[in-house]
Amino acid sequence: MANVLITGGAGYIGSHTAVLLSQEGYDIYIIDNFINSEPSALRAVEKIISKCVQFSEVDLTNSEELDAVFSKNSFDAIIHFAGLKSVSESVGDPLKYYNNNISSTLNLLNSMCKYNITKLVFSSSATVYGKCETVPLAEDFPIGQTTNPYATSKFVQELILKDVALSNNLNIMALRYFNPVGAHTSGLLGEKPRGIPNNLCPYILQVLSGKLDRLNVFGDDYETADGSAIRDYIHVVDLAIGHLKAIEKLLCAESSVSYDAINLGRGVGVSVLEMIKSFESATGRKVPYKIAGRRQGDLPVSYAATDKASAELGFQAERSIEQACLDLWRYQEHLNKTGTSKEQSVREK
Ligand code: WQD
Repeated sequence: MANVLITGGAGYIGSHTAVLLSQEGYDIYIIDNFINSEPSALRAVEKIISKCVQFSEVDLTNSEELDAVFSKNSFDAIIHFAGLKSVSESVGDPLKYYNNNISSTLNLLNSMCKYNITKLVFSSSATVYGKCETVPLAEDFPIGQTTNPYATSKFVQELILKDVALSNNLNIMALRYFNPVGAHTSGLLGEKPRGIPNNLCPYILQVLSGKLDRLNVFGDDYETADGSAIRDYIHVVDLAIGHLKAIEKLLCAESSVSYDAINLGRGVGVSVLEMIKSFESATGRKVPYKIAGRRQGDLPVSYAATDKASAELGFQAERSIEQACLDLWRYQEHLNKTGTSKEQSVREK
């Protein structure tokens, strides 16, 4: 079976994708520098798949470290998750984001060309669309009207990948995620943000756990049904399935993909206040909140057009918001009980 290199494979989406690819019979090799993840995620992956994971601690901005992995292994395809992803942090330190995210991808492309690896799935983001007047957002919409350096770094990486794919006969698929949520049903894997979370769901989980007093709802004066902003929340396991389908497409012999970009979303908009209700229904607990001012840079409404993912990958997200909230809460409860994810408590027995 094919050998797939997963950069950032200890991260939220990377670890869930590593589990799925391994369960589907792929050999996987994870590299990560733990800037936004922890080794415990790799232990969780191993516990779920019941086997050891091939891993090297690598900073992709260090071309020698990266080359050492390629010189000792042969890969049939790469999934490139590694990258900094905080919108607010990027606003405060744009150069850190451009250095890290763009240099990592340039080093990876140089290694791909040196070792003749042509197939790459790239973790992109719906934020490359920036401010768009109409929804749902479709892949042929203009990209680049980005509103923060994180989004701009994703946009620039897509431009680079497209140019190099065409010039060097590579086969590259950029997957534009909307809002990843949820956790593995085992309760072993989930998102573990450092410090006070910026994103909605991790913040709600900490309010439900009593770690934070209440949620600030950033605006209830948008032109939406309940006044709060709307997003396309997609379960992380559905995202992993989208990556599996993209890898399968790139690896199949008759694949003619040179460069392509595909949305991964549910295609359904859900408001902040609706998310609160879903968490309350899933957990049986109230989410205390207050209405605050709009957050700078936020879009009123964003959700995906999903027909291209369906037509080209045969992908449709299947998991509901309620399922995502249940899975998130299960993972959070184990973190609360053990101060880590569940696998740590299992290892200590
Ligand atoms: C969702 C909604 C907020 C926190 C960003 C990135 C995107 C991806 C996901 C990386 C918005 C509201 C939030 C809070 C709130 N990241 N909110 N109170 O901004 O849509 O997307 O994170 O891959 O690329 O752009 O996600 O979860 O921060 O916000 O009211 O405490 O929840 O205003 O409407 P966002 P989010």
